[in-house]
Amino acid sequence: MTGTNSINIGDRDYPVLSGSVGPDVVDIRKLYANTGKFTYDPGFTSTASCESGLTYIDGDEGILLHRGYPIGQLAEHSSFMEVAYLLLNGELPDKAEFDKFNYTITRHTMLHEQLATFYRGFRRDAHPMAIMCGVVGALSAFYHDSTDITDPRQRMIASHRLIAKMPTIAAMAYKYSVGQPFLYPKNDLSYTGNFLRMTFGVPAEEYEIHPAVERALDRIFILHADHEQNASTSTVRLAGSSGANPFACIAAGIACLWGPAHGGANEAALNMLHEIGRPERIPEYIARAKDKNDPFRLMGFGHRVYKNYDPRATVMQKTVREVFDALKVSDPVFEVALQLEEMALKDDYFVEKKLFPNVDFYSGVILSAIGFPTTMFTALFALARTVGWVAQWNEMISDPDQKIGRPRQLYTGPTQRDYIPVEQR
Ligand code: ACO
Repeated sequence: MTGTNSINIGDRDYPVLSGSVGPDVVDIRKLYANTGKFTYDPGFTSTASCESGLTYIDGDEGILLHRGYPIGQLAEHSSFMEVAYLLLNGELPDKAEFDKFNYTITRHTMLHEQLATFYRGFRRDAHPMAIMCGVVGALSAFYHDSTDITDPRQRMIASHRLIAKMPTIAAMAYKYSVGQPFLYPKNDLSYTGNFLRMTFGVPAEEYEIHPAVERALDRIFILHADHEQNASTSTVRLAGSSGANPFACIAAGIACLWGPAHGGANEAALNMLHEIGRPERIPEYIARAKDKNDPFRLMGFGHRVYKNYDPRATVMQKTVREVFDALKVSDPVFEVALQLEEMALKDDYFVEKKLFPNVDFYSGVILSAIGFPTTMFTALFALARTVGWVAQWNEMISDPDQKIGRPRQLYTGPTQRDYIPVEQR
């Protein structure tokens, strides 16, 4: 972070700081002390809440970089485990580093056996995200030896545990909901292959992993690994800023991700595509999305940061075709999705507001073709985003400038008044 310029507010100069790329920021940390005024920015549309070296997004150009590497290149050539290493450690691993990391993650995939009993406390029809919030939060009760956040080694062990155990936790949430026995992880499988087997395998027979499906899902995980200071990541950072243990922080992130405006959007997008059902009905839904008096929005469209095509949506669209070809399936909702995208992108409303498909527009179509029920979609997102949450949490804890997050407010409630006893009200 460098700063040579300044900006004048009131009668004082405030430093303007530059990152390596992207908009400069005005350092207003002394604004309140100097002026007695706060800034007002609900939704943080103009506020940088931290310094970070993990992920860069240029929403106007549709660029997404992890540690400098474009998402398209990572999705094409890398693996989710390698991207996890990159986000955690800052550089791509060499062969020995990668093998060691892979080995470590693989050896942490099992859950404490007592956790299986913990699952049985949930109703059978519980949403997997509800189970994941509970189980991930409960990890701090099972792994006390990695909750001292002042110890870098414990922080790293907690990070590895979270990344490694998330597929096991998500798969068990699914198994519980369908009434099938939990499957233990198998160490000769890849991270993603293991997750597929724990989700779709049964003890009665061998599970055969389809290489194209394994590759597609691994790519989906890469596309969801991190996305700078989005709502759930900011939640993880805010929870962590109080010194809360890492498992509690990630559980907070999962809770935030569940919302339909964030991680729940892929489930909502697929439900919408099914509801539309036939290309002839698309104009009706586009009209509803444009109608100010109708709360309906095109799910999987629009983004706080991207005012251009979400680069992850480009990879997703290609991956749908690959999965359909590999599994020799077709799904009319994909045709609806393609035509909806085409029509929306030609419509003045969407053009003027710069509303493009986001990562969630196509991901539901692929996940459903692989066999995941819609209730698992956000759980898969949480699994992948754990890497980003953990990397951002580590970055925050290691930042000497880190303070407890404590926004201020514009108070519009009553001014001071005297208490009136109930019989006089
Ligand atoms: N359909 C129709 N109109 C839309 C849509 C949409 N999907 N998205 C935004 N708009 C309109 C809004 O009505 C608003 O219009 P106005 O200026 O006339 O009031 C304008 O575009 C700006 O929208 P905001 O909601 O103010 O933009 P914001 O940045 O706050 O919201 C969000 C971004 C939440 C993603 C929004 O576009 C949305 O609700 N999209 C649908 C849900 C979705 O797909 N979420 C996934 C996000 S990606 C992720 O979390 C991985």
